[in-house]
Amino acid sequence: MKAFTKNKYGGPEVLQLEEVEKPKIQDDHILVKVEANSANPADWHILRGKPFFARFTFGLFKPKDKIPGADFAGIVEEVGNNVKQFKPGDRVFGETLKGGAFAEYICAPANVCAIIPDGIDSKVMASIPIAGVTALQALITHGKLKAGETVLINGSSGGVGHFAVQIAKAWGARVSAVCSDKNLDFVKNLGADEVIPYDKENIHQHKEKYDLIIDTNGNLNHEDFVRMGRRGVLVGFTNMGHMMSVLLKSVFSKFPLAQFTAEANIKDLEILASLIQNEKIKVHIEKTFPYKNIPEAIGYIEAMRTKGKVAMVWEGLEED
Ligand SMILES: NC(=O)c1ccc[n+]([C@@H]2O[C@H](COP(=O)([O-])OP(=O)(O)OC[C@H]3O[C@@H](n4cnc5c(N)ncnc54)[C@H](OP(=O)(O)O)[C@@H]3O)[C@@H](O)[C@H]2O)c1
Repeated sequence: MKAFTKNKYGGPEVLQLEEVEKPKIQDDHILVKVEANSANPADWHILRGKPFFARFTFGLFKPKDKIPGADFAGIVEEVGNNVKQFKPGDRVFGETLKGGAFAEYICAPANVCAIIPDGIDSKVMASIPIAGVTALQALITHGKLKAGETVLINGSSGGVGHFAVQIAKAWGARVSAVCSDKNLDFVKNLGADEVIPYDKENIHQHKEKYDLIIDTNGNLNHEDFVRMGRRGVLVGFTNMGHMMSVLLKSVFSKFPLAQFTAEANIKDLEILASLIQNEKIKVHIEKTFPYKNIPEAIGYIEAMRTKGKVAMVWEGLEED
């Protein structure tokens, strides 16, 4: 099968498209013929081995796993002996941070996959797993958002942010969203009640108070969380020093601030699938790349200015 592979840490240029052996089915896994992927900041963090501490997980001197890629959607070809919930021919989507998704086939644990609702496109569903699960877990699992509460979402136009705005509205919250001025109408159309352009208003001096602050961009200071929020969730990071300073201050403060690494599970993927099916959330795909241009897609999202998501397709190769 065709797959992108890497043998050393580096930028998208270290990825090579080559013929490799098709993965063999394992007992708790499903073998999926990949139809589409999406790109996430995790892809280039893992590709570059940055921040450095990530190498303790992904390989100290060179990457442990050859094939990169986390988000995928496709058709089940084979199921492992212990898998009961899927059968060959099912359309599924899922994610695996161990990689393997930027290939014609992926052998993925069944417990990080869910069924695609009828009539929904693969590239739409491939755009959901990491960003959608992160938004859902930030708001609901860690943020404990309740209907009628107010939430500020800092970084609301990217992958995680654009899902967070829509999920918070679906949960019955009042949403204030922070993004660049150029994306103001985009975020308003996602359903935000109020949009604050960070390049026109200094968020570090914003005075409103919210029940929950979600920081997907990671540039808020500890003082910003305390001034604007009653509780907070730190999702993204701008640099390690800043993140460590926010977390260190939270150890000595009574302010309830959560930081987490999102992990896919069937229940959360099914919630997201149902939100899509019931048109409570929509995926905005800014750009679609053919699979041969996966390195270009990774390079594209490294600028961290993506509006919604970037998808990659293995069939029906059209560019949006
Ligand atoms: N904790 C976890 O488990 C987890 C999981 C997934 C992702 N993440 C992290 O979450 C972050 C976001 O991921 P993503 O997939 O949403 O990335 P993305 O799609 O690249 O979105 C990045 C967004 O950041 C916004 N942004 C840039 N500068 C900003 C500023 N000064 N203030 C507010 N927003 C700003 C951009 O919006 P404008 O263009 O409008 O400026 C852009 O939409 C990344 O750091 C990623 O590593 C963490």
